[in-house]
Amino acid sequence: MQTFPAQQSRLTRFLSLFSARRSAFWRRHKGLLMSAAPFLVAALMAVVAASGQQFSFIPNGVFFPNANGASQTYSTTGGGIDLTGPFFQSLGTNGRSCGTCHQPSDGMSVSAANVQQRFVLTRGKDPIFRAVDGSNCNHNIDVSTFAGMSAAYSLLRTRGLIRVAIAVSSNADYRVVSVNNPYGCNESDVISMYRRPLPTTNLRFLSAVMFDGRESSTATGTTKILYSNYPTSLLNDLAHQSSDATTGHAQGDGTRPTPEEQQQIVNFEMALFTAQAFGFRTARLDAQGASGGPVPLVNQPFFISSYSSVNFLLPQFEQPGGLVIPGDGQFTPAIFNPFDAWTGLPSMHPRAAVARGQAIFNSKPINITGVAGINDDVSAGGLLAGGIPSLQGTCGTCHDTPNMGNHSFPTPLDIGTSDPNPSNPSANLGGLDVGYLPTITVCKTDPGTGLPTSTCKTTTDLGQALIDGKFDHVGKIKGPILRGLSARAPYFHNGSAATLLDAVHFYEVRFGLVLTPQEESDLVAFLSAL
Ligand code: HEC
Ligand code: HEC
Repeated sequence: MQTFPAQQSRLTRFLSLFSARRSAFWRRHKGLLMSAAPFLVAALMAVVAASGQQFSFIPNGVFFPNANGASQTYSTTGGGIDLTGPFFQSLGTNGRSCGTCHQPSDGMSVSAANVQQRFVLTRGKDPIFRAVDGSNCNHNIDVSTFAGMSAAYSLLRTRGLIRVAIAVSSNADYRVVSVNNPYGCNESDVISMYRRPLPTTNLRFLSAVMFDGRESSTATGTTKILYSNYPTSLLNDLAHQSSDATTGHAQGDGTRPTPEEQQQIVNFEMALFTAQAFGFRTARLDAQGASGGPVPLVNQPFFISSYSSVNFLLPQFEQPGGLVIPGDGQFTPAIFNPFDAWTGLPSMHPRAAVARGQAIFNSKPINITGVAGINDDVSAGGLLAGGIPSLQGTCGTCHDTPNMGNHSFPTPLDIGTSDPNPSNPSANLGGLDVGYLPTITVCKTDPGTGLPTSTCKTTTDLGQALIDGKFDHVGKIKGPILRGLSARAPYFHNGSAATLLDAVHFYEVRFGLVLTPQEESDLVAFLSAL
């Protein structure tokens, strides 16, 4: 990669002013820098980026501006993000690196706004715009003109979606009976789905790799992440993933990343911690006793499958390996606590709104029904065969990893975000619009004849069913880590929620959750501060 050492060291010194909180410069100009820092860094990066030059290092503490304030990505190794390692090198044949879709400025994902900006600035030449999976479909497209490219890459530009194409396994217990893809990818043996890049940060807390868990599944020769094999399973899965990502997204020939490069990529990813660190209305998210921002996450305790209240009810819940799942006895249903200290502030204070939103997330009751993975019988077996038709829970029942919010269980759930008409009884109630997605109809096959039965489902994403071939797993998707959300709109695997308020509206419509406008705005203030 091209670097400019002289300029960089100046830049590094400049940027370090924002992290060197004890320097004289910092003390003297603290007030001004606090409010101006995100903008100064943004302006500086934009100037450098526009001149076609690249950074080689981003020191810890740099603010990456976003619509709600700024995020930070903190590395436990080397004092910052080294942009010269294999993660940021082109290892395939189409000029892409992992960093093409996993950017430090966007909480190690990529926002749709970032993609659109790159499209305009490079007139579609940025390597993210490659027909292999960047365009809506890889055939019958015309990318010879700007207008043609604009149309071919519309889902990537407007929703930040990558086409994920996966073959239907020959031993699936269902058959794909129809595919209706508005972009021409109508093949029924290889299914095209459209998904957001997951953040490659805070990975220590993952219980499944990829939305459908396909990089941690025996069906793909990778390892399911369990209490008993963590973290070896996770590290192996991530190494395997780095190789698949290069062959797939970067059209690699299979020789890279080498085992050594895979190790470097995994080490790089595992060292990263990301969170929103600054809010326009709240200022620093670690002020006044709060513990927002990425640094407290470094020492956050974590156990696979150990924290869920679902776990308490269903000790065998999709766990192949045994009845008792060990925990540390510290489980509390209050999944998030960074903003506890802001609870007593005057109610009009923006920080009080964040604390109220945290309390809603932790304790507002939600009636969880019709969620495949919780309310159906799955492999619960024994005592609770038949599942629990209705479970009184909270946001944290599913988002149960403390201060992270992903599933601590390696268990994808179908909450309805893949439905062709997700919980949208009447269009203006806040249901999600997924009209831009394909619809795929699958029918369970008769085990005797192998012919499709009349038990069918129509979905926009087959989720876990495409990995393990199980009809019951249609639409099952993992709940992502909820840190750094402000850096990476839009939300849900298919980008169907343009804003965090849209995501909250989805829960209101889908689960009959009743929130006042004030509660909605508090919950959004909290999610924005994560
Ligand atoms: C063209 C864009 C693109 C490129 C390039 C890319 N990724 Fe991704 N990445 C994605 C998408 C999209 C997903 C989610 C796909 C899914 O779940 O089906 C993802 C998911 C991931 C995940 C899973 C995180 C989680 O929470 O499960 C990891 C890890 C990851 N990528 C690492 C990498 C690495 C390492 C590279 C480089 C070798 C890379 N990616 C290159 C788009 C990209
Ligand atoms: C029944 C389980 C369940 C409950 C309850 C639940 N979630 Fe989710 N959540 C999920 C799953 C599964 C996903 C992933 C869905 C997808 O990507 O399509 C998700 C995704 C999200 C996302 C999008 C994250 C991203 O990176 O795109 C947000 C935000 C979110 N949930 C917030 C909440 C809030 C706030 C509540 C409470 C009002 C809540 N969730 C309750 C299971 C749940």
